[in-house]
Amino acid sequence: EKVPLTLEINGKKVQLSVEPRVTLLDLLREQLDLTGTKKGCDYGQCGACTVHSDGERINACLTFAVMQEGKKITTIEGLADGEKLHPMQEAFVKHDGFQCGYCTPGQIMSAVACIREGHANSEDEIREYMSGNICRCGAYSNIVNAITEVKN
Ligand code: FES
Repeated sequence: EKVPLTLEINGKKVQLSVEPRVTLLDLLREQLDLTGTKKGCDYGQCGACTVHSDGERINACLTFAVMQEGKKITTIEGLADGEKLHPMQEAFVKHDGFQCGYCTPGQIMSAVACIREGHANSEDEIREYMSGNICRCGAYSNIVNAITEVKN
């Protein structure tokens, strides 16, 4: 049986009807067509599904959508300002912070949170904070460089 759910997603209020067992990740991708948020493992191990909930990063695969009632969710689609990329998106492009790109939305959402939460003061700190975001192509050094540039 579906239940009502109200959220703000990328600055827009949405009212939905969802099955209680649907994850935020599946809600975003399948009901709202926000497919920028990726599904890698679907159990909290890869970080591909990272989004912000009231400004804090979360793994969208680990939370039921109904648990986010009333929250402000930001996905990778909500980061740019119209046509203008977010500075972190610019920095990923400039520093080649990706190869295949599958993990990139999650990496960028974590990277923005890394700076916002004050964990970008050294390379070690950045690597520690970003350790939940796996990149199979191994773009890690370039990702660290991108974050370092935006931080400074
Ligand atoms: Fe959520 Fe891997 S899909 S952490």
